[in-house]
Amino acid sequence: MAGGAIIAVATLKGGSGKSTLASCLAAHWRLAGGQPALIDADPQRSLVRLARREQALAGVPVIENSRGTVVATAREEAFRHSPVIVDTAGFRTAATLAAMTVADLVIVPVKPSPLDVDVMLDTADALFSGQEGRRLKFRCVLTQTTRDSVIARHIRSELAGAGFPLFESELVNRIAYGEAALFGATPSMTEPRGAAAREIAALAQEVEQALSEARVPHES
Ligand SMILES: Nc1ncnc2c1ncn2[C@@H]1O[C@H](COP(=O)(O)OP(=O)(O)O)[C@@H](O)[C@H]1O
Ligand SMILES: [Mg+2]
Repeated sequence: MAGGAIIAVATLKGGSGKSTLASCLAAHWRLAGGQPALIDADPQRSLVRLARREQALAGVPVIENSRGTVVATAREEAFRHSPVIVDTAGFRTAATLAAMTVADLVIVPVKPSPLDVDVMLDTADALFSGQEGRRLKFRCVLTQTTRDSVIARHIRSELAGAGFPLFESELVNRIAYGEAALFGATPSMTEPRGAAAREIAALAQEVEQALSEARVPHES
């Protein structure tokens, strides 16, 4: 039988919200009664540190591995946990490329910025082309957006036009994320009825849907 689903969070730019996205999805599924795990493949160890604070990410285990062996770690964790979410340093590291190869789904957070739409599209090309073997399943998601922003709408249509699939849900720029992180928590834990928690839940549902379409049994 195949193990649990593996998700990789890769990026086009630093500070785009990878670790926030990974921790929020994991905590959401944990609170919903699931058994997610996080793998911190970023040498900066944001998730490892987060899990050491007071609320310890609602008990989601965080495993540290920023080496090429992250694939073996992810597969191993997937026997006991699902989904296994790999938070990466960025797409230039060996661990990121390895994580993307093993993942059933790659989620790419995009922070809308008016200055670098073209750079973003170029790097998206670099990220998704040249993937050997099975076709990579990926989705972009807008993060740290301002509600009803013209920039976000513009970037949404640029991404769609360039053939990069995008989740409908967005993670709006909200103070709740940073405030929760101070205590090793996410908005789903600190303000379960709040707007941020609802956005996370909506995104999680879209991710589940994409995973159910994406999953092919792991060969072996
Ligand atoms: N939706 C959001 N609203 C507000 N702040 C956010 C949001 N997402 C991320 N941040 C903040 O932006 C910064 C970078 O996010 P982070 O998840 O660490 O990015 P990355 O892992 O890609 O470097 C952090 O300070 C984080 O708290
Ligand atoms: Mg990070």
